[in-house]
Amino acid sequence: MRIAVTGRQGQVVSCLIEAACKWPGLEVIPLGRPDLDLTVPSTIEPAIAAARPHLVVSAAAYTSVDLAEDEPELAYSVNATGAGAAARAAGELGIPIIHLSTDYVFSGDKQGSYVEGDATGPLSVYGASKLAGEQAVIAANTQHLILRTAWVYSAYGKNFVKTMMRLAQDRQELSVVGDQWGSPTSAHDIADCVLHIASRVTSDASFADWGVYHLAGHGEINWSGFARHILQTSKRQGGPFAHVNDIATADYPTRARRPANSRLGTEKLSAAFGWSSPHWQEAADAVVASVIPHLTKVRR
Ligand SMILES: NC(=O)c1ccc[n+]([C@@H]2O[C@H](COP(=O)([O-])OP(=O)(O)OC[C@H]3O[C@@H](n4cnc5c(N)ncnc54)[C@H](OP(=O)(O)O)[C@@H]3O)[C@@H](O)[C@H]2O)c1
Repeated sequence: MRIAVTGRQGQVVSCLIEAACKWPGLEVIPLGRPDLDLTVPSTIEPAIAAARPHLVVSAAAYTSVDLAEDEPELAYSVNATGAGAAARAAGELGIPIIHLSTDYVFSGDKQGSYVEGDATGPLSVYGASKLAGEQAVIAANTQHLILRTAWVYSAYGKNFVKTMMRLAQDRQELSVVGDQWGSPTSAHDIADCVLHIASRVTSDASFADWGVYHLAGHGEINWSGFARHILQTSKRQGGPFAHVNDIATADYPTRARRPANSRLGTEKLSAAFGWSSPHWQEAADAVVASVIPHLTKVRR
C-alpha cells in the first residue's frame, strides 16, 4: 500500500514515516513544500497524482494558534482551501482521504466530553479555519475520514512536552494554566491509528462508514496537571524537573482564545474501527523517555 501524506517534517508526518517501518509492504510518501504547497493550488493535484497513492493522509496544517489571529488569510489558505484541494485531488483519483482536524472547532462550553455530533463553535481563527477545512474536505471527496485530535505531542517538532522539559532545564518553577481541560494525544498513537484505519478502508471494498471521528488519548487532564506529570516522569528518569504552579487562563493572556473544555469522546472511533488509544499518562511517559537523551543541557 502506498500512502501519500501532506507535509514533510510535522509531528504526525514524522510519526507516520516512523510507524510505517512496522508495516511490511507499506510505503509512506511525504509531500511537502515546494513540491506540494497548500497555498499554491497548482502544486497539489500534480504532487498527489505523481505519488500514485492508494490513500491520502492530510496532516499538513497551519498550526500556529496565536499567530493565526494576525494571519487569517494564510491560515484559511492552508487549512481550508489547501485541505479542500488535497481532498479533491484524492477524489479525482478515486481514493479516500484521512484528514486531521482539531478539538479547537469547539467552544469549550459543554460539560463532559465532546462527541462528533455536538455543535461546533470555534473561538479562534485557527479553529475556524480548521472547521472550514473539514467542510471543504467533506464537499470535495465522499470518501473522507476526518479525525479530530487534540493537544498533540511527540518526540518530533515543537510541542508542549518538549517545551516543559526545555524550560525545566533553566527554571525551578513554572506557571501553567490549570483551567483548560483536554485529552493529550501522542502523535505516535495518531500515526498507529491512521495506519490501522488506512489498512481497513483500502482492503474492504464495502467500507462505507465515512465521516467525522474523534481520536485522542484516553483520559483527561488540564495543562498544569499535564506539565506536572511530564516533569515528575522526567525526574524519575534522570531528566529535568521543575515545580508547577497553577495559574488561571485570565492570568496568562494569549492572542487566541482557547476552549476551557475540549475533551474528546472517542467511542465512535472504537465502535467503527476497534481502536482504543492508550491512556495519556502511558503515552506521555514514552515520549518523555525518548526526549531526555536529546536534551542539550540537564540541570539536575
Ligand atoms: N499540534 C497540535 O496540538 C494539534 C492539535 C489538534 C489537531 N492538530 C492537527 O493535527 C494535524 C497535524 O499536526 P502536527 O502537530 O503534526 O503539525 P505540525 O507539527 O505543526 O506540522 C505541520 C505540517 O504542515 C506542513 N505545512 C504547513 N504549511 C504548509 C503548506 N503551505 N504546504 C505544505 N505543507 C505545509 C508543515 O510543513 P514542513 O514539514 O515543511 O514544516 C508540517 O509538515 C494538523 O492538521 C493539525 O491541525 C494538531
